[in-house]
Amino acid sequence: MKKKRKDLLGLRGVEREEIEEILATAEQMREISRRKVKKVPTLRGRTVVTLFFENSTRTRTSFDLAAKRLSADTLSFSVSTSSTTKGETLMDTARTIFAMSPDAVVVRHSCAGAPHLLARHFPWTVLNAGDGINEHPSQALLDMLTMRDRLGSLEGRKVAIVGDVQHSRVARSNIFGLTTMGASVRVAGPGTMCRSDLAALPVEIRHTVDDVVKDADVIMMLRIQRERLGRAVLPSAREYAAFYGLDLERLSRARPDVVVMHPGPINRGVEIAADVADGPNSVILDQVTNGIAVRMALLFLLLGNAEDASPT
Ligand code: NCD
Repeated sequence: MKKKRKDLLGLRGVEREEIEEILATAEQMREISRRKVKKVPTLRGRTVVTLFFENSTRTRTSFDLAAKRLSADTLSFSVSTSSTTKGETLMDTARTIFAMSPDAVVVRHSCAGAPHLLARHFPWTVLNAGDGINEHPSQALLDMLTMRDRLGSLEGRKVAIVGDVQHSRVARSNIFGLTTMGASVRVAGPGTMCRSDLAALPVEIRHTVDDVVKDADVIMMLRIQRERLGRAVLPSAREYAAFYGLDLERLSRARPDVVVMHPGPINRGVEIAADVADGPNSVILDQVTNGIAVRMALLFLLLGNAEDASPT
């Protein structure tokens, strides 16, 4: 990276030029994944550890594949949080990993700030793969790459984020990244999942889904973060689908070319109807494909020596 950073912990405060550089590098990385032999020697001899204290399908496999396509050695740590307190487990596990001399650690944790703690105490590069309700920067970067593929530029675009915005690290990272790139963000969801304190972020809060959907260029649907919610704030799934879900009828009131996104895992029939998730406006699988390219770009920019290692 032009401005060399050690870690990527979030998109808050990351400048437009740097986001442009990551997305441009990801576009180059996509070419490698289209080859028959999907591997370049760029990070040969470097070690990337994935350390996940929360479940994950996409993010972990995507980082793992990204590191492998750049020839890094990968090591996967699965940690249960059940037996010891979170602080102790995190630091103890980190010390164990430290003894294995990694170059980068990709960390997911239910506590906001956990990756920041590791970044402060250890010399290796830390990539935040989701910390509680705080941030999930690589997801927002792959979302922005996917939007750019469909829309060209993000400047002046209207992005609607719908559902459990309050507890979504994906929403927060997208809000920071998208507004830096010149897009505007409107959010809608149930009062308990889209509270007025979100107004501290650069977003416009609306309370009906139709209101944000009608002139949006992009509609991003979110999963209800049940693991972060008390029971009291959860309406029934049927009621939620009726008021806040995206079905074909609601979609028909949006622009015909609107881009429909979801970070996954999706709950068909709750926040998104199956025929919308699988329909022509949906780019959900493109998001997954772009995830590998973005994570290759991040690993390359953070670990590679830009001067002597060409990605392609
Ligand atoms: C998201 C996450 O973990 O924050 N998933 C992902 O990384 N693709 C969104 C979610 O779990 O709802």
